Order: sequence, then structure tokens, then C-alpha cells
Amino acid sequence: MANEARIRELRRRKKKAKEGGGGERIEKLHTSGRLTARESIELLLDRGTFEELGGFVTHRCRDFGMHAKRITGDGVVAGYGYINGRLTYVFAQDFTVFGGTLSEENAKKICNVMDLAMMNGAPIVGLNDSGGARIQEGVASLGGYAEIFLRNTLASGVIPQISAVFGPCAGGAVYSPAITDFILMVKGTSHMFVTGPEVIKSVTKESVTFEQLGGAVTHSTKSGVAHFAAEDCRDCLQQIRKLLGYMPQNNMEDPPRVECTDDPSRMDAELADIVPEDSTKPYDIKEIIKRVVDDGEYYEVQKDYAQNITVGFARLNGRCVGVVGNQPKVLAGVLDIKSSIKGARFVRFCDAFNIPLVTFEDVPGFLPGTAQEYGGIIKPGAKLLYAYCEATVPKLTVITRKAYGGAYDVMSSKHVRGDYNVAWPTAELAVMGAEGAVNIMYRREIAEAKDPKAARKKFVDQYNERFANPYIAAELGYLDDVIEAPETRPRLISALEMLQNKRQSLPPKKHGNIPL
Ligand code: HXC
Repeated sequence: MANEARIRELRRRKKKAKEGGGGERIEKLHTSGRLTARESIELLLDRGTFEELGGFVTHRCRDFGMHAKRITGDGVVAGYGYINGRLTYVFAQDFTVFGGTLSEENAKKICNVMDLAMMNGAPIVGLNDSGGARIQEGVASLGGYAEIFLRNTLASGVIPQISAVFGPCAGGAVYSPAITDFILMVKGTSHMFVTGPEVIKSVTKESVTFEQLGGAVTHSTKSGVAHFAAEDCRDCLQQIRKLLGYMPQNNMEDPPRVECTDDPSRMDAELADIVPEDSTKPYDIKEIIKRVVDDGEYYEVQKDYAQNITVGFARLNGRCVGVVGNQPKVLAGVLDIKSSIKGARFVRFCDAFNIPLVTFEDVPGFLPGTAQEYGGIIKPGAKLLYAYCEATVPKLTVITRKAYGGAYDVMSSKHVRGDYNVAWPTAELAVMGAEGAVNIMYRREIAEAKDPKAARKKFVDQYNERFANPYIAAELGYLDDVIEAPETRPRLISALEMLQNKRQSLPPKKHGNIPL
């Protein structure tokens, strides 16, 4: 064959590969509100930076007439490119080719980019849209999944791993995204579940739609499986770009520092008026967070799940921080099963990737009740405690109001190696609130008093005078300072600067045994 003919052949093959499953299937995908794998990758990466790897791969299956159905690329597009100029590996399942299902060969393509991401210390983004294991390949496909799960696990804590789910993601296939750091779903098009509506109907007789069972709203509000619920695929891809901007490329690097245009010494007088005088009244901790961080930009993670705690990314003088805040507006900011797990996972992510933690604390304790106790709150609570104890990144804590009971210890206290712990004058550090404490300490005195109501009030006032302030803790050295609310931003920025070279390590061990 002449050279020109060879080039024509190459181009023909490449063009064919780009067509994936072909016009009709692409049209169907678009009608359902989804994008093809290639379209998604183009939108995810900086324009024109994608380099494909393994684009000619096809499957080797000979059963069920599959030898006659071979499509170049075999249902997954994989390679690398750049996001805001930073190297990123990516794979995207192509639903137009065998429903994006996993074959032995396309699993190898995915594993290849995962291996490269690990060896080169760069994030990996997986765009999932698949009917799961390719049935015709049987156990070879299951083996492919296991190879991916293993790599997800080995990469955990080494490079950031992001999963987006655009279409179906069912059965064991859900476990790859589940092991990764963040899951983004798309409202109306993506579904994740271990067993689908039909199986559920036959086993438990429950009737449930795909959307109710495993849609983006379900997983971002009810189950907490998804960290973000995007409006559409484009929004989802933009969110991935934004999310990666807060992260280092790998666990050996610091997150990127950006130029800060927000004055680091900016005071905010209005911060002094946010915490209500009556300590039983709610307020929005996110308003405080936004007033303190650079340009009011707080990128919240799992914002619609377990809203009694808020977690997310922000910057202080251009440095990325992970923010954790108890939210007095929801359930008085109490810690319960869901919020403890949400907090613990976020703290561990930040610690793994050298992102300092800033904790805004206003917590009345752990939620009482049989539902919580039978649900095993002891363990989730211990997870959050364990996560904070284990974290060696700079830990800064601002107590805005309540720091009661075990929750005081848990929320990045001095005792669990908080580096910079301050409180506002409105802070109350105690074993519990006045009413509960008085009931226990003075039950008999109140019962025997001529005027029990007056006696109770006297004891409550005494208790509040003694404990409803930050000064006992400050005297004991459990607080580094009591600061005025308006100066929070400059004080945190100064502390972060002071801690920028912090080095702290854990005792040598294979790994800890976090209470799961
Ligand atoms: C082979 C599959 C397939 C599969 C879909 N296709 N799933 N081929 N193996 N698992 C093919 C279809 O035959 C079809 O091919 C094309 O993909 C598109 O599928 P449609 O059904 O036409 O699309 P749609 O109506 O949108 O429905 C999508 C779907 C449905 C909901 C995903 O296809 C479905 O329920 N598939 C089976 C899902 C499943 O049970 N997978 C196994 C899960 S267990 P043509 O040629 O017509 O375009 C699992 C184990 C993982 O994955 C193991 C890890 C431990």
C-alpha cells in the first residue's frame, strides 16, 4: 500500500472510532439529555488538550455472535489532558457502544490510565454511563471490575479520584465510584443502585421508580452517596473542574495557592451580630463562613445531606482550606449518625491531601434517642473523633457558641491536637446546657424547694454564670485566645501562615482500625 493510502486508512479508522455506536444511538443519548463520551471529555478538559490512549482496542469475545460485533474503542474512551493547565487522566464510558458495558479489554484501558495516574501523581476522573458488566463476557467482565476496584483502593489517599455518573451505574459497578473521593450525579439522567426496581419488586414487593431509587436527588439528599447533584452534564463537568482546583495533584503536594484579591486583614463588623443573644436561637453558620473566607466563596460538599453539619472548600489568603461547621439552623447543629459520617469522610479527605482544616463550632452534643442508639451512633460519632484525632494537617478551630459534651472533644479540640483554637466571647464550653445540668445536679434541691421554679432559675443562672463563657477553657489553656468575632479572618489567616510548614506524623503502623 502506498504511503498516502496508508494515511487514508489510518484516518478512516480514526473517524470510524470517533463515531462510536453511530448516529441513531447518539441521537437517542442526546434525546435523553446525555452527552457522548467524547463530547464529555472535550468539555471537561482544557480545549484541545485530550490525548487518547488505546483508541483502537476492540473486545476479544467470541460468544453469542460477538465476533461479528466489534466496535473500535470498545465502549470506553480513555487518555489524558489538562484542567486549568494541570495534568488529569480521564476515562469515559461510551453508552452508544454496547451500552458502555465493561469488557475485559476496555477494563484494561481504564486500568492503564489509572496506573499512569498513580505513577505520575495526577488525578483521575471517571465518567460513568454503563449497563454494567458485559453479559456476553461473563466472568471476564467481572474480573475487569475487580481490577478497577483494586486500583481505586490503592490510589485512595494518593491521587484525587473523581467519579461522575451520567447514566446508569448498577450492581457491583457502583463500587468503583463509591471508593473514589467524590461522586457527582446529574439530575434526571443518572441512576445508581445495587439492585434495580424490578429485583426490588420481586423480592420486597416495593414499587419504586429508577429516579426515586437511585437518582441524583435521592443520593444527594437521602443516602449521601452523591456529593454533588448537577443540573445537567455540562454543569457536572464544570463542577469537576472547579472541585479539582481545590486539590493538589497528589498526596505529596500542597493544594495550589491562588492569587488573593480579598484583603487578608479585612475585619467584618457584622460578624459580631450574627450569634443571637439567646443561646437557644438558631443562626446560619454558613453566613459566618462566607464572611470570613476569600471573596465569600464557599464550595459546599454534600450541601443537601445531613445539613446539621456543613463541609466544603474555601480559601484564606489564596490558600485552600477544608471547612467544617456545625449548623445551628438545622437540628440545632447536633451531631447524629449522618452528620458524623459526612464530617469524618471530609476530614479524612482533607488530611490525606494536605488541606488544612478550619472548624466552626457550635454544637449542643450528640442527638439523643433510640433511633440514634439502635442505629449505632456510638460508631459514627467515633469515626468523626477518630478522623480529627488522626488528622495531621493544620487544624484551626473557632468556637462561636456551644461546645458541649463529647462533641467539644470531637470537634478539633486542643486535646485532639488542634493547632489554633479560639473562641468568640459568645462561646459556652461545658459538659451540657444549663437546663440539663441543673436537672441532674440539683434534682433534690429543686423538688424540695418551696418555690421549685424560682430555685431552678437560681441554679440555672449560677450555672450559666460559671460555664456560659469561654474563660474557664482559656484559663486551662484549652483555647489559645478569645477573639472578637470581626477579627476572625485576619486571625485565621495569620495562624494558617504560622502553620504552613507544620510537620506531624503518626506512629508507624500498617493502618489504623477506624471504627467502621
Ligand atoms: C451487554 C448490554 C448490557 C449488558 C445494556 N446492554 N446492558 N449489553 N451487557 N449488561 C446493551 C443493550 O443490549 C443495548 O444494545 C445497549 O446496551 C443499550 O441498552 P438499552 O437497553 O437499549 O438502553 P436503555 O433502554 O437506556 O436501558 C439501559 C439499561 C438496560 C437500564 C442499562 O440496558 C439494562 O437494564 N441493562 C442491564 C443492566 C444490568 O443488569 N447489568 C448487570 C449489572 S451487574 P444495542 O445493541 O441494542 O444498542 C454488574 C456486575 C458488576 O454490572 C460486577 C462488579 C462486581
